Amino acid sequence: RIAGPCSIVIFGVTGDLSRKKLLPAIYDLANRGLLPPSFGLTGFARRDWTEDHFKEFVKENVQAHCRTQFNDATWDQLARGIRFVRGTFEDPDAFARLSDTVAELDRDRGTRGNHAFYMSVPPRDFPIVARQLANCGLAKSGEDAWRRVIIEKPFGHDLASAQQLDEVISEVFDPDSVFRIDHYLGKETVQNLLALRFANTMYEPIWNANYVDHVQITMAEDIGVAGRAGYYDGIGAARDVIQNHLLQLMALTAMEEPVSFSARDLMAEKTKVLSAVRLPRDLAAHTARGQYSAGWQGSEPVCGYLEEKGIDPDSTTETYAAIRLDIDTRRWAGVPFYLRTGKRLGRRVTEIALVFKRAPHLPFESTATQELGKNAIVIRVQPYEGVTIRFGSKVPGVTSMEVRDVSMDFSYGRSFTEASPEAYERLILDVLLGDPPLFPTTKEVDLSWRILDPIEDFWSTLGQPQPYRAGTWGPQEAVEMLARDGHRWRMP
Ligand code: BG6
Repeated sequence: RIAGPCSIVIFGVTGDLSRKKLLPAIYDLANRGLLPPSFGLTGFARRDWTEDHFKEFVKENVQAHCRTQFNDATWDQLARGIRFVRGTFEDPDAFARLSDTVAELDRDRGTRGNHAFYMSVPPRDFPIVARQLANCGLAKSGEDAWRRVIIEKPFGHDLASAQQLDEVISEVFDPDSVFRIDHYLGKETVQNLLALRFANTMYEPIWNANYVDHVQITMAEDIGVAGRAGYYDGIGAARDVIQNHLLQLMALTAMEEPVSFSARDLMAEKTKVLSAVRLPRDLAAHTARGQYSAGWQGSEPVCGYLEEKGIDPDSTTETYAAIRLDIDTRRWAGVPFYLRTGKRLGRRVTEIALVFKRAPHLPFESTATQELGKNAIVIRVQPYEGVTIRFGSKVPGVTSMEVRDVSMDFSYGRSFTEASPEAYERLILDVLLGDPPLFPTTKEVDLSWRILDPIEDFWSTLGQPQPYRAGTWGPQEAVEMLARDGHRWRMP
């Protein structure tokens, strides 16, 4: 799977995502030999830079963040295809220059009219960039040349704005040339969830309401808003990651086996799950919001959200969100799915935990601890990628039959020597190959907003989210939310 002749144009190339993820991922793909020698990379930005300055900028960021060893030969090859177009999104002349640049790459590098446009820009800029690309004739694929557009989340702010965006995008691009990035789908461990479930026989028979008590999906981060105040304030934790990453994880965990791993078949199963989601009737009891206050992260004192640079000191944006969802299907009837995420929590961890029902009867005496015999399968998405199975085991000893919970672990680091590629590498390569299964469709995006909108509407009637100290596991509200159902959050 090596990409054919093509180029990528990045809008928003000087931004955080581009510097830390996109440019290094492109370099790593080149270094792994997955890009063609003729590959072209064009940055489009407002800054008054020369092409050489831009190349230096790319090199610095690649060296700081690439996963593979920096190699001069790869760099020289890639650098020969790097171009820079200076301009604003409003300026048609800048797009005319972009069009010339792309034509020059076709002629001199041999990119053969195949170009991907990466919109690493806020959603308010999608429409103008899309229209400018259309006006200068860059948006439509030709007979033997493809054009593709990559759209970064957020896909809107709610259902209505997502649909408006879709209208603009679909006016300009062919539907199968639009790739919406949800980088969680590019993670090895997330793809492994499908292998775990569908390439084995031992999990599926118990992967249902007969055995599973509830499911906890956690995405905890130790970082704060980390210089992204402008984006985050007013958006909040639920729109930032529940609407996309966590609902996608839930859909993959809960879906039926797809007929194949084609984009269409995967979408069919994921949309069934998202359409079957039922919101709690009492949103006050089954959702929780929090906002971090000053505290400690490891041994470092950190400020509260309201004191962060660029944040409105009266902001009611949540930095922690937890919700309970139910899935009305035969497989999941009566099994709550708890989704939680937060910034400045105890540590960075993303996991999916299926917590099983207790054995109906214990035929021996035990010094039962609370967790005894509560089996769990935990997919450790990151870090320490792998899978843990928890079960009860007899404590060695001749006099008693004491059972205690133990873990059985699979870890990528121990089982494989190959390092996992960065999610963006996989996804960018998939776009260049025209391989769409790992990209959420418009329908999934819309269904996800349908789930989140009523919750956001409800939250907007409340005042300030409950504070939680940085470095802890979130607000008391979230603990109570699970306690009401007789559960506790796992301590990952
Ligand atoms: C992004 C969110 O989508 O995912 C960020 O906008 C978040 O707020 C990031 O920090 C986390 O990604 P990862 O891959 O580090 O878990």
